[in-house]
Amino acid sequence: MIIKTSRNGFQHPVASEITSRAVYLDRRRWIQNMALGSAGLGLAAWGSREAVAQAAYPRPGKLVPLTGGRSLVAGATTVEAVTSYQHASTYNNFYEFGTDKADPARTSGTLRTRPWTVAVEGLVQKPGTFDLDDLLKLAPMEERVYRLRCVEGWSMVIPWMGYSLAELIKRVEPMGSAKYMEFVTLADQTMMPGLRSGVLDWPYVEGLRLDEAQHPLSMLVFGMYGEVLPNQNGAPVRLIVPWKYGFKSGKSLVKIRFTEKQPATSWNLSAPQEYGFYSNVNPEVSHPRWSQATERRIGEEGGLLAKRRKTLMFNGYEPQVGQLYAGMDLKKFY
Ligand code: MTE
Repeated sequence: MIIKTSRNGFQHPVASEITSRAVYLDRRRWIQNMALGSAGLGLAAWGSREAVAQAAYPRPGKLVPLTGGRSLVAGATTVEAVTSYQHASTYNNFYEFGTDKADPARTSGTLRTRPWTVAVEGLVQKPGTFDLDDLLKLAPMEERVYRLRCVEGWSMVIPWMGYSLAELIKRVEPMGSAKYMEFVTLADQTMMPGLRSGVLDWPYVEGLRLDEAQHPLSMLVFGMYGEVLPNQNGAPVRLIVPWKYGFKSGKSLVKIRFTEKQPATSWNLSAPQEYGFYSNVNPEVSHPRWSQATERRIGEEGGLLAKRRKTLMFNGYEPQVGQLYAGMDLKKFY
C-alpha cells in the first residue's frame, strides 16, 4: 500500500462558497436547540459513547470546515478507533480515477466540484434538480462515525458529515409505485482519467430498495472529519450505506432516479456471480474467490500482517437493519 501524505494540488471550494453565513448560523442555532431542548436528552445519552470516537481523531483543518450536530440516529456512531484521515484519504476505490488504491488521491485533483447539481427524477411527485447549496441546506448536518467494509476484505472507521438520505426522499414525495432508487455518478472524460479504461461500464450506477434508502442509517454525505469531502472520497456528495459492502456507496452523485423495477447496477452487470444487488455485509456468504469471514482494518499496526477482525453480520448494524430482510434467504439474495 502506498501512503501519500501531501494533499496539495486538490481543488476545493473556498469557505464563502460552501456555507453562507445564514446557513452556518442556522446550523449553530439547531445545535444549540438540540442541546437545550428535549432532544438534548437523547444527545446526552450519546455523549459518553461518542466521546471515545470523537477524541480519537485529529481534524486536519485544511479543507473547508463543515459543522454539524452529532447524530441522533440510534446505532449510527461506533466507539471503535477512528481510522486516520491520512489512511482514509489515500487508500481509495474510485475507478473513475484509476484502479490502484493510491490513484484517486493522486489523480482526482482534476475533479471540479462547483458548480454541481443532482437531478432527482422518475416516480416522484416533485422531481427537480438540486443545486449543491440547496442540498447542503436541506437538513441539519450531522456527524456519524460509521464502519465502511469493502467487499475486498478491508475496513475503515470514518466520521462522516451529512444527513439521512430519507430527508431528500421525503422532499420529493415518492409515488406509491416507486420501489427502488438508482444512483448515477459523474462520468466526465475531461476530469476523470479512469474512464478511458473499460474496467466498468460508465457511468458508475448503484441501486437500493426504497425502504433501504429510507432507513435512517443511509446517509447523504458531504464531508468527513469535519471538513468537505476530499475529491478522492467522492466530493462533493456521495452515499454511505454502512451495512452494505462499500461499493454500494456511490461517489460524486449526479442523478437519483425512483423506479418500479430493480435497477441494473455497475458491479452486478460486470460480474453477476460475484456482486448481487443486495450486497449486504454477510460473513457467511463467501465471495466466489475469497472468504468474507474476516477483514483487515486499514491503518492498524502491522499492516498486511495485522490480526484480522471477524466480519460482523450487516457490518455490525444488524440490530438496526436486520428487520429489512426478514424472511429473505440472504444466501440467495447476496
Ligand atoms: N463510486 C464511484 N463513483 N466509483 C467507484 O469506483 N467505488 C466503491 C464506492 N463508490 C466507487 C464508488 C467502492 S468499491 C468502495 S469500497 C467505496 O466507494 C470506497 O470509498 P472510500 O474510497 O471513500 O473509502
